[in-house]
Amino acid sequence: MNQGKFITFEGGDGSGKSTQLGLTVAWLEAQGKDVFQTFEPGDTPLGGEIRRLLLSGEFMPVPACELLLFLADRAQHVEQVIKPALAAGKWVVCDRYTDSTLAYQLAGRKLEDDAELRAMLAWAEQGLKPDVTLWLDLSVADAAVRMAERVAEGEPSNRLDDEKKSFHEAVYQAFQSIQQENTQRVCRINAKQNMDVIQQDIQKVLKDL
Ligand code: TYD
Repeated sequence: MNQGKFITFEGGDGSGKSTQLGLTVAWLEAQGKDVFQTFEPGDTPLGGEIRRLLLSGEFMPVPACELLLFLADRAQHVEQVIKPALAAGKWVVCDRYTDSTLAYQLAGRKLEDDAELRAMLAWAEQGLKPDVTLWLDLSVADAAVRMAERVAEGEPSNRLDDEKKSFHEAVYQAFQSIQQENTQRVCRINAKQNMDVIQQDIQKVLKDL
């Protein structure tokens, strides 16, 4: 049986990532691919509980606890969901993965990016790296405008969306560095363009897979 492909989407809150992910899944399916769409945190029964602990705002985990909960969610997700789907030959399209942890927990929360933490991140992934990562690049200022529009339309924000501007700046800079350090895997998509053009750029990348 053919091993499937593992595609991740990354970007700051308000970058239009979820919309583009949905369009991409529909396009891949139209190409005849067997696609499995998933997300982090929370796409296992146990992970759903972890997601609530992390994002509801009911709890204020210290940075180390926050990091460990995201990694716990990932370990469960990789083993229970992603690896079996790949083994069944599916194209797995995942909304956020380890790059989000690097950006939000290490850079955003200012945890020291040392060999010990990198080893923990790799351990939670259990050897599974994305084949390709699409980073939807939108500046913090532009993303903030979109987030404000959403809130005005009544969409709830999560505990991390509500972080201050300096946090979102650190997250943005981290995604930039991740892209520069992994130019083979991570493709930068200009998320300031209109929706159709963004989608065409994504399709161009995936056609090369
Ligand atoms: P979510 O509501 O799923 O939406 P979106 O991805 O569209 O922002 O929010 C997930 C939140 O969790 C988001 O604010 C980023 C954060 N997150 C981390 O801080 N670390 C991680 O490792 C992951 C996977 C997500």
